[in-house]
Amino acid sequence: MTKKSGEISPRSVAPLNIDVAQAFRGAMRRLAATVTIVTARQGDEWFGMTMTAVTSLSMDPPTLLICVNRKTRLHAVLAAVEGASFCVNLLRPGHEEAASAFGGSVEPTARFGIGEWACEDGAPYLVDAQSNLFCDVTTAIAYGSHTIFIGAVRQVRLEGDVAPLIYGDGRYLPFSSDVELPH
Ligand SMILES: Cc1cc2nc3c(=O)[nH]c(=O)nc-3n(C[C@H](O)[C@H](O)[C@H](O)COP(=O)(O)O)c2cc1C
Repeated sequence: MTKKSGEISPRSVAPLNIDVAQAFRGAMRRLAATVTIVTARQGDEWFGMTMTAVTSLSMDPPTLLICVNRKTRLHAVLAAVEGASFCVNLLRPGHEEAASAFGGSVEPTARFGIGEWACEDGAPYLVDAQSNLFCDVTTAIAYGSHTIFIGAVRQVRLEGDVAPLIYGDGRYLPFSSDVELPH
């Protein structure tokens, strides 16, 4: 049977007995992503949380977006003022302890005791991260449990080789740039 344009093939439809939310969670475990710690400052206080919902949005102008749960402390800081500054720190293998601490396993005030942190351009940054992207919020879009913060990238630090810490299937996965892929 030939498929008409716009027609959905039966194989692409999820079986009806699978709960969509549960299946979505299962699918997201397969969407491996680079682990980041997103930070911000409010007065003298530093805030940070582990995030994988970080996406490049536009090259011209340099812009990215982050999806932040409204219940988090970072959300309150970013929503408090117009044009709030934040920093996206791209982690590398070896940063697993910091990733788990900033993911909630360590109380907020003790998190910056893990790793070497400095403060510049309005937000704390991890000195040996692969990269630090300093941003200012231009737009906030509320959606479901999260807010999408769009950030204009104002300054970027690059450090060492490309070596991302990857999170997938609920764990940190090995990364190698040496693997030969078939052509
Ligand atoms: C690998 C990993 C990725 C995460 N990604 C996100 C994310 O993209 N957005 C989000 O809102 N929370 C994410 N979280 C959860 C937050 O890091 C976690 O809720 C954190 O404790 C919130 O900070 P708080 O305790 O200071 O409020 C992630 C956690 C882990 C471990």
